[in-house]
Amino acid sequence: MCGIIGYIGQRQAQPILLSSLSRLEYRGYDSCGIAVASSGLEVYKDAVRVEALAKVLLQLDGTAGVGHTRWATHGEPSQVNAHPHCDCNGNIAVVHNGVINNFQKLKQQLISEGHSFVSETDTEVIPHLIEKYYDGNLEKAIEAALLDIEGSYAIIVLMVGEPKLVAARRDSPLIIGIGDRENFIASDVPAILDYTNRVIYLEDGDIGVITADSIKVRGEGTEVKRKQHRISWSIEDAQKAGYEHFMLKEIHEQPKVIRDTLGRYLSATEPVADWAMITDTGLENILILACGTSYNAALVGKYILEELVGIPVRAELASEFNYYGQALARTGAIAITQSGETADTLKAIKRLKGLGGKVVAIANVVGSTASRIADQTVYTLAGPEISVAATKSFTAQLMALYWLALSHSKLDISRRDGLITGLRRLPGKVQQVLDSEDEIKEGAEYLSKYKDVFFIGRGINFPVALEGALKLKEISYIHAEGYAAGELKHGPFALLSSDTPVIAIVAQDNTYEAMLTNIKEVKARGSPVVALAGEGNEAIGELVDSVIIVPQVDAIFSPVVNTVALQLLAYYAARFRGCSIDFPRNLAKSVTVE
Ligand code: AGP
Repeated sequence: MCGIIGYIGQRQAQPILLSSLSRLEYRGYDSCGIAVASSGLEVYKDAVRVEALAKVLLQLDGTAGVGHTRWATHGEPSQVNAHPHCDCNGNIAVVHNGVINNFQKLKQQLISEGHSFVSETDTEVIPHLIEKYYDGNLEKAIEAALLDIEGSYAIIVLMVGEPKLVAARRDSPLIIGIGDRENFIASDVPAILDYTNRVIYLEDGDIGVITADSIKVRGEGTEVKRKQHRISWSIEDAQKAGYEHFMLKEIHEQPKVIRDTLGRYLSATEPVADWAMITDTGLENILILACGTSYNAALVGKYILEELVGIPVRAELASEFNYYGQALARTGAIAITQSGETADTLKAIKRLKGLGGKVVAIANVVGSTASRIADQTVYTLAGPEISVAATKSFTAQLMALYWLALSHSKLDISRRDGLITGLRRLPGKVQQVLDSEDEIKEGAEYLSKYKDVFFIGRGINFPVALEGALKLKEISYIHAEGYAAGELKHGPFALLSSDTPVIAIVAQDNTYEAMLTNIKEVKARGSPVVALAGEGNEAIGELVDSVIIVPQVDAIFSPVVNTVALQLLAYYAARFRGCSIDFPRNLAKSVTVE
């Protein structure tokens, strides 16, 4: 997720592009750049924050320009990988937000036709494709280029000698800001609210052509009239897209995050990670290392990999592994880290490599230390996660683990294809959970009154109980514990009373009957029980105090829908308690100390 901006009007473009970009840094901030057109095209970009770029920039002359602030997906943050990207002659500048899945193939084709590339990015194919098709009509050249592209995009194109900006979108947001004898194009409202609050939302397949005095939108080849909206939000609200907190916004981004992350893996022509690099060691077991929420994802990964690949998996806390862990021979290692900067996890990677092991990192930040020291990196495409409490990054990590397992499973074709179909349906299932937000809110209001809460689950949903408890602890400051349901009777039962509600995660799998028994045992000790159960399982309502129904999915995917429901539960419980949700006390988004 990057931020893009375009300006055309009477004023000098540079200061407007820079201030708009600084408003878009919540979308990505590892590098940035602008291009301004006057007699020629002036392009300035680097792997720095917008403020730093503004400090070194000379005054560029020109009243039309484009800008970009980056969240790297292809190619580490660097001056050459930063946007805008240009064609061979430097006449066309493009800024892009999205992922082009078939860029490798297009790049090879263009190179064979004489184009030369300078960056590792997927985006750079766009200006070269436009250059290839350009015969005096810029819109036509862009339409032809977009027909070759597979994936998601919001782009703005600036060309020397063309007194206009052309924009197009598919699966990435794009708006036009309407000014007085000037107009704007941007990824999102915060970029332009300093200048106008009149906007047009472009729809998938739209191509917008703006000049200083006109705006034309073509949808599917014909001119269309898109509704004008007047925005009443403050800039801060707009950065949260109208959500009260970044956490709630990030929870609601998960259907798209799943689509993007899966889209990257399931359609990749080149292997995203060379698992063989690990299997060459004659892989006999897998070790997954991580901390916090990433560790809970690692625990779910253990169940996924053991079930689908059929080899033993150890999930270990990196902070513990660093002092006691032994790397067994023929161990394939995975390190999971959203930020890629968590000190304990980095130390574990270095230690493993020191023991001669090889490590695949699952990371969300391109160019982060973990991605640099690991032998290979599988990137999750969750985009920047601003809220300290990890939500969408957890779900994206599970997608990476499902893909790694499926791409190395020994399953029969029909089961494998069935699971891939199930994966492709997950965005819709998660949307169903999000659509039941109000029911979950009721459960949260009930929970918000308690000081102590337990979460119980079995099998692949035991780690989900841990994650549910971690989310509630982190942001609502309620003392919450997650347990393997079978463990309660070995001690924690002593803590149960009418003041300790229990959230029971009841999956439709081989643990179902055992979970019902555990619920009866908990009820017998006077604790209220809230069950998280699949559609068609409403009968459980007779046994418990309230039920949160989640969509039916294959048992191996149940951690995804269950966790999203528990994220909402924690979020609203914290909100009812008036907690500072995005930046909870005593915590940091990336823990860079041991
Ligand atoms: C989760 O909500 C927390 N922010 C924290 O537990 C986090 O998961 C942990 O610090 C690991 O971070 P990482 O994924 O960036 O390595």
